[in-house]
Amino acid sequence: MKKLMAANWKMFKTRAQAQQTANELLGLIDGKLPSDREVLIFPPFTALSEVAEAMRGKQGCAFGAQNFYPREDGAFTGEISPAMLKDAGCTWALAGHSERRWVFGEDDALVGEKVAYGLNQGLRMILCIGEKIEERKAGKLSQVIAEQLQKGLAGIKDITPGDLAIAYEPVWAIGTGEVAGPDEILDAHACVRKELAEILGDTAMETPILYGGSVKPDNASAIIALDNVDGVLVGGASLLAESFSRIVLA
Ligand code: 13P
Repeated sequence: MKKLMAANWKMFKTRAQAQQTANELLGLIDGKLPSDREVLIFPPFTALSEVAEAMRGKQGCAFGAQNFYPREDGAFTGEISPAMLKDAGCTWALAGHSERRWVFGEDDALVGEKVAYGLNQGLRMILCIGEKIEERKAGKLSQVIAEQLQKGLAGIKDITPGDLAIAYEPVWAIGTGEVAGPDEILDAHACVRKELAEILGDTAMETPILYGGSVKPDNASAIIALDNVDGVLVGGASLLAESFSRIVLA
């Protein structure tokens, strides 16, 4: 299973900035990317074509969308469909990011619809899950993980290994500089793997589980080395090519 080294640029970067960062990043990792790692970039929609251009012909790199609406087309002002994203060259998409859940009010049912629809449309999906600090303090970590996975994967039947990844991103560690400790990550990822095995059977072992939340160049290699950590999903530290290249190669 390849390790997925993913950059989520969130609502940052103009087209020119995206082009520059993508080109610089690809230059920094050129010839150095281990064959068991894949680089993914999730730029804002407006910069998809710049990232597509920068990645043209590059091995081990792909890009995708941070969000979409799970319909073919229609009167959904402000939304974008998987068909449109594939037309823009996307092969991946995120669903259930904590900012979608907690800033925009997306619930598990909609997240589940997105995962199922995106997979059905031929996108590879990263389902993001993670607990809030109150839930962790209340001892509800495994319950939250189980519920988000069950509902987020409710609509899927047969899954082709490689089409689905999970990103465990504790809400309290996102953008806060407060990274989860090794034991917390080990615990949570083991819990994700166990729940995945119940939902997906054997495919669970071939489903990458990424960690996200304040991943930086100086903590990436320790995180990546942990059991059941099959990659990282990086926000802030992915915005600069130099910093993200150190994470990718960590
Ligand atoms: P930070 O790396 O900025 O904490 O963001 C993590 C994240 O939300 C990635 O999707």
